Amino acid sequence: MPPARRTAPFCSASCGGLADAVYGFPRGPTSDIPGGVDARSLSLPVMPSGAAIPMDAETAATYGLTLRGDARAHGLFDRFGRAHTYLRISVTERCNLRCRYCMPEEGVQLLPKDHLLSFEEIERLAALFVRLGVRKIRLTGGEPLVRRGIDDLVARIGALKAHGLERLMMTSNALLLREHIPALLRAGMDAVNLSLDTLRPERFRRVTGREGCEETIAAIHAAARAGFRKVKVNAVVMKGVNDDELVDLARAFARELPIEMRYIEYMPFEGNGWGEELEMFPAASIRGRLEEQLRLEARGLNDGGAGTAQMYDAFEKDGRPFQGQIGIISSMTEPFCGTCNRTRLTADGHFRWCLLDEGEIDLRAPLRAGATDGDLAGLIEQGLRSKRAGHAPAAVLKETQKAAGPTHARSMIRIGG
Ligand code: 5AD
Ligand code: SF4
Repeated sequence: MPPARRTAPFCSASCGGLADAVYGFPRGPTSDIPGGVDARSLSLPVMPSGAAIPMDAETAATYGLTLRGDARAHGLFDRFGRAHTYLRISVTERCNLRCRYCMPEEGVQLLPKDHLLSFEEIERLAALFVRLGVRKIRLTGGEPLVRRGIDDLVARIGALKAHGLERLMMTSNALLLREHIPALLRAGMDAVNLSLDTLRPERFRRVTGREGCEETIAAIHAAARAGFRKVKVNAVVMKGVNDDELVDLARAFARELPIEMRYIEYMPFEGNGWGEELEMFPAASIRGRLEEQLRLEARGLNDGGAGTAQMYDAFEKDGRPFQGQIGIISSMTEPFCGTCNRTRLTADGHFRWCLLDEGEIDLRAPLRAGATDGDLAGLIEQGLRSKRAGHAPAAVLKETQKAAGPTHARSMIRIGG
């Protein structure tokens, strides 16, 4: 005897309202964003619910539903079950510095202006990502503070906190930071990662191609006093360039202030001289160099184990504790792909699922051609489906980038740091 048909008053194959609430793909022109719907007006959350009813085919049938394959991109899961709750949005490819490790010596061909996503477009995509499960957004570049009107954009993204966004952060070289601090704080900016590889002006000039060492240091100190929840300093460590300054950097920022001083293994990107004129200084050596003068106590990976930095409490050898922590990021020698929760949106509107994979999907063209949020979510899902378990070793990356050449491989400045 067939099972008694259960009534399912709200759920049927033609469910409109509930399907919209669940999948969040609204219908109808309810938006103030040209060509789109107001994603912010929709109900979140979209993360997996622990209270879901197990849904086998037979139970589903009583609701008039048939299983059609894997669940949608909600929660932004990839094939390996990694939930992508972190989106890094590059807002410009321009920068007021020329760091050797970030961009090719000859610079990069700048985007035609209309290739750049507008604030409205960034806001719409950010809102969509938040609806799909993103909880942390970082604004990057190039240098995000060189984009005209950036305070307005930060405020727009900050407003997504009312709709599920939990953290808003920015990576900047700090040169223009001081004048923006009040606006960033007002907009809900929680944390800033500020880049500085050396305390010596002459070296700064050599690495970045510009002046600005003293201003950067002053801006970092100002940020630490301004009330952000977190201030981090990022130094990319290169052999023979700044590997003799690691302890000085830690003392300058993390000893008296609650700043996290982070040392990053130098990664190969198109045209950045990796393994040629510039060499990596591995994480193990970074730690060794610090321990020549400091005592480090391991605290595990940041973000409760999901982060990218091995964290340490630091002490002078006489026992005096540092106010801030030390982080070491070993992307090359000990990759952390297993816990990767990151995706990226480039300044020209391409979705990337891995920093070190050339794969990307254009969201800008469909967006401008009138794609619905559902269409865009489908493309995001397609991208995540091709995300690999891990990235290739450094030497292989270097070769792939070389073979692809500057028109196909993106330098760091064009991906977004
Ligand atoms: N290797 C590692 N980190 C890099 N960054 C830029 N280029 C590289 C590279 N080749 C990081 C810097 C900077 C941020 C924008 O990106 O730490 O803080
Ligand atoms: Fe600019 Fe940052 Fe790249 Fe340096 S690392 S050139 S500051 S984007």
